[in-house]
Amino acid sequence: MTNKKKVYTITAALPYANGPLHVGHIAGCFLPADIYHRYLKLKCEDAIFICGSDEHGVPVTIRAAKEGTTPQAIVDKYHTMMKNAFEKFGINFSFYGRTSAAYHHSNAQHFFETLYTNSKFEEETTQQFFDTEANQFLADRYITGTCPKCSNPNAYGDQCERCGSTLNPTDLISPKSTLSGGKPEMRETKNWYLPLNKYQTQLENYINSHLKDWKVNVYGQCSSWLKDGLNARAMTRDLDWGVKLSPIVKDAEGKVMYVWFDAPLGYISNTKEYIEDSWEKYWIEDNHTDQKLIHFIGKDNIVFHCIIFPAMLMAYNNTGGKQYILPENVPANEFLNLEGEKISTSRNWAVWLHEYLEDFPNRNDELRYYLTAIAPESKDSDFTWSGYQLAVNSELVAVLGNFVNRVIVLTHKFFEGKVPSKNIYGELENKLFENLYNKSKTIDEYLSKYKFRDALGELMDLYRAGNKYFADTEPWHLIKTNKEQTETVLNAALVYCYNLGILSQAFLPETAKNIFNLYNTSPLETDFNTIINGNHVALETSHEIGQAVHLFKNIEDIEIQKQIDKLKNNPANTVQTETNLKPLKDMITFDDFAKIDLRVATILEAEKVPNSDKLLKLTLETGIDKRIVVSGIAEYYKPEDIIGKQVSLVANLAPRKMRGIESQGMILMAKDSEGNLHFVSPTNTINTGADIT
Ligand code: MF3
Ligand code: ZN
Repeated sequence: MTNKKKVYTITAALPYANGPLHVGHIAGCFLPADIYHRYLKLKCEDAIFICGSDEHGVPVTIRAAKEGTTPQAIVDKYHTMMKNAFEKFGINFSFYGRTSAAYHHSNAQHFFETLYTNSKFEEETTQQFFDTEANQFLADRYITGTCPKCSNPNAYGDQCERCGSTLNPTDLISPKSTLSGGKPEMRETKNWYLPLNKYQTQLENYINSHLKDWKVNVYGQCSSWLKDGLNARAMTRDLDWGVKLSPIVKDAEGKVMYVWFDAPLGYISNTKEYIEDSWEKYWIEDNHTDQKLIHFIGKDNIVFHCIIFPAMLMAYNNTGGKQYILPENVPANEFLNLEGEKISTSRNWAVWLHEYLEDFPNRNDELRYYLTAIAPESKDSDFTWSGYQLAVNSELVAVLGNFVNRVIVLTHKFFEGKVPSKNIYGELENKLFENLYNKSKTIDEYLSKYKFRDALGELMDLYRAGNKYFADTEPWHLIKTNKEQTETVLNAALVYCYNLGILSQAFLPETAKNIFNLYNTSPLETDFNTIINGNHVALETSHEIGQAVHLFKNIEDIEIQKQIDKLKNNPANTVQTETNLKPLKDMITFDDFAKIDLRVATILEAEKVPNSDKLLKLTLETGIDKRIVVSGIAEYYKPEDIIGKQVSLVANLAPRKMRGIESQGMILMAKDSEGNLHFVSPTNTINTGADIT
């Protein structure tokens, strides 16, 4: 047991490759994971940082269907986009993989196979909804119907988004398949279940052993799951997008692994892909190594990482094969809101990482700083653009940037840019460094307990203390009367500032680099440890310092206003209220109205207008003639979906040419608060050509 070598595997929840990343993802999981990993490296620990895209799951297939493309095309697009955004933002994974890759499929299959051949699954045949037209079983999300609790007609098979109830597809009143629109029927299907109940005691022991070191919210959620008693959970699905079961599984045709079975195995697959020869050092128990597996996640992922994944590993370990370690800690965060409201990707109420990177180039540390300062570590927190501006201007510029700048400027002004000699540090200097040693220890302690917010607060206090030191010593006056004493002050300030640079690295990597550039040097690997062990890194007298630059710039009001406008003017967010509904037009007479020939027409044919994203060319039967109408609805309707639809036609509108096609009339559309267009149609099918009066 003695002298075991510690190794760390840091993971960040594999993000779904069905949309871009936003600040909520970053604050909740990727940034704390990155800080923690950098911190371990600063401590010279053996640590790897593993992540990748989570590319399976029903949302991917739904998105693909919506965009008229394949699931693979969707995940390719978002995988690349996320990977690039992470790199540009400086989330420094050791490896970023993906679950649609062959290496992951074969690893997940091997894992499944091992459980299967060792009878760790229970097979169960159940009744599931089946769409006879689409010829497939329906995932819960593919079934909609009326919510039994609140009568919302658009509830999903797993959840009603209006009243928030968790549902089973069979709870829905008049269920409908979203694939065909038809009424699904019940069919039998076999699936493989992991009997979580069999691991109840083992899981209880495991969770209980972490009463002291896990976050209260994480421990609390786990114990409440355990108290309710665990049930077997299906680990397979009737879908074709996902990791197929290996051929040795009987009756596996048409089945894939449940996405929450394959995704956490992605941590292992990605480690194997990263370091094929030494991955076991990080994952498989041995007598010489103390492995620590730390999962950074958001609170909606707790049960999967603390109960289901450990149960999967326990099941595997029970087969007598390699013995996987269990997660050592799962420091889950709560949620980040935006301007007082829940972040919503469908409403586009989000600050997207790729857009931030474009709108605020070279300002990564500003966002890192703000997101760490407001991290939702123990409760939900709120991102506001004014908060961001305040953090940058009043802390990064006024405290940190200001101190560093003054140190460098004064060194040039009084000592030709060279580190002056130290002479003898007096009481103020000793106090300054005493405080540095103490606070560094506190920073180390906070970081080791995943308290990034508090750790950053201590670091900023150290910069504040630097400014206070200048205020107390006033080197700009002192130089006139006591050069030697001024040397001491600037020596102390320079050394102190350099040490703060070393301490800042995990939080603000680019700022730290900029500080080291100013000093024309870079720290030794052991420097961070030197400081947290109660010492400081000294500088040589006469060492040359570079020219001062401003590390941060103020964020102007106009930049902030732009961001707020972007959020609020986004069409998906314009909630129509009395104040922003369109104003009433001028009064017209009945005769004016009677001039308009309105009648019901039926769409006979529809096709996209070449080279236009917006226009459809419709052939209409009006009862008196067949005619062409060009309509700007292509973003909302697929041609094949609207054939046979009855619409309201303005039949006597003067013809207009659009993209070379003459449009003979116009069909009426209603625009909802999200900007989507809807047909204005008779509620029942009636005779084509019917007069609208
Ligand atoms: N994709 C999931 C989410 O964003 C997280 C998966 S984490 C893993 O909520 F462990 F399954 F990989
Ligand atoms: Zn409901």
